[in-house]
Amino acid sequence: MDLKQGINGQWRNRWTFILAAAGSAVGLGNIWKFPYITGENGGGAFVLVYLVCIALIGIPIMLAEVMLGRRGRMSPINAMLYLSRESKVSHWWSGVGWSGVMAGIFILSFYSVIAGWALHYFILALSGEFYQIDAQASGAVFSGLLANVGGLTLWHTIFLLVTLSIVAAGVVKGLGVAVRYIMPLLFILMGILVIYSAIVGDFFAAFHFLFDFNGQALKWEGVLVALGHAFFTLSLGMGAIMAYGAYLPDKFSATNGEITGKISLGKTVLIIAALDTIVALMAGLVIFPIVFSNPSIEPSAGPGLLFVSLPIAFGGMFAGSFFASLFFFLIFIAALSSAISLIEPTVAWLVEVKQWPRVKITFLLGAIVWIVGLGTVFSFNIWSDLKILGSTFFDMLDFLTANIMLPLGGLLIAIFVGWVMKPSIVKDEVGDIHHGYYRWWYMILRYLSPILLALVFVITLINKLGS
Ligand code: PHE
Repeated sequence: MDLKQGINGQWRNRWTFILAAAGSAVGLGNIWKFPYITGENGGGAFVLVYLVCIALIGIPIMLAEVMLGRRGRMSPINAMLYLSRESKVSHWWSGVGWSGVMAGIFILSFYSVIAGWALHYFILALSGEFYQIDAQASGAVFSGLLANVGGLTLWHTIFLLVTLSIVAAGVVKGLGVAVRYIMPLLFILMGILVIYSAIVGDFFAAFHFLFDFNGQALKWEGVLVALGHAFFTLSLGMGAIMAYGAYLPDKFSATNGEITGKISLGKTVLIIAALDTIVALMAGLVIFPIVFSNPSIEPSAGPGLLFVSLPIAFGGMFAGSFFASLFFFLIFIAALSSAISLIEPTVAWLVEVKQWPRVKITFLLGAIVWIVGLGTVFSFNIWSDLKILGSTFFDMLDFLTANIMLPLGGLLIAIFVGWVMKPSIVKDEVGDIHHGYYRWWYMILRYLSPILLALVFVITLINKLGS
């Protein structure tokens, strides 16, 4: 196989990559998960730790991951095999790719169920269900959905089928184009909602909750959640961004189409991280003003926070049904572009090693994801009392992937790029960012990110054992 040209396709240009990676990053993590874990972990201090994790751990590791993908030019498992051979170290480093495959399947299994909620809400909004709805009625709609096993399974199935169809057709072709329209639309709509929420809701309470530093509200467990979420929201530590990096073209000259060098990765990564963070903060500013103006909704309401609070906002809004359906549709699309990247690394790998048709591989994998997803469906009803180490199946999967697997994957990536790969190779791949910035990045990746990661792990563990 030609090592420098993967068989799974190539982005048209740098912007297509940025949009696809941003499509992967921006998803349920920003709109659904960020607000509810912020609510559960007491607000401001949590948000601050999350932002620090994005800046000092997430961004440096994202740059490392894109770079690994582009140099390896294959699916994460094979790219890591190739790169470990290049650096003459054990092939066990491909374990990074393996854990990514598992994490991708686990995450997609519950992601699809939650995205299914958004689809269901899209239909409810279209049929005017939220018109003048109050907090109590909205809570009842949500609990009704959770109790409905058939409904949840149906939406989970539909969402997964749509995802699989796109992945089967090949990610590179359709995705870039689709995301070009969706991202700006999502931004505009979030902007409108932030303003609307600020007018009808309690903007100041929300703002203080999100941005005042209240150290006592944050426990060690919360620090781990913030760290894990930095990985989850940026799609790091499981190979999604690595797989997309593998489809990055070299730089072509605009005039004669000749290869003129490598596309600069530094700015690219910063743009993606900035977009992702802005969307999350906007989601917080949409949801919390409504939460604080409705005493019956608790900030710590959990995974239902978005689904209980937003219908109330839309219900009282001019053309509310229209805006609500548009918004839930956008959440669905944002989730879709993330879901695709959860399974793409595994599909790409199987295409490379098995050389079966992409369609067959995609749907076989999809069947596994679908079955695991039923565990999440049941977590909200028939299995809600079934606790593994004190949590439901869904909570356990969420904790295992976001708080353990992704940060561990990130730690290994930081060590690989910072310590295992030859500095000259690393420099060759990312050295075209400004020299000063390059040195900073390399130092942070070698020392600060791994130490911070390890510290959070160790302290949380000690705390867990101590309690
Ligand atoms: N980043 C996505 C989100 O925030 C989720 C995701 C995680 C996607 C890991 C790919 C890999 O919704």
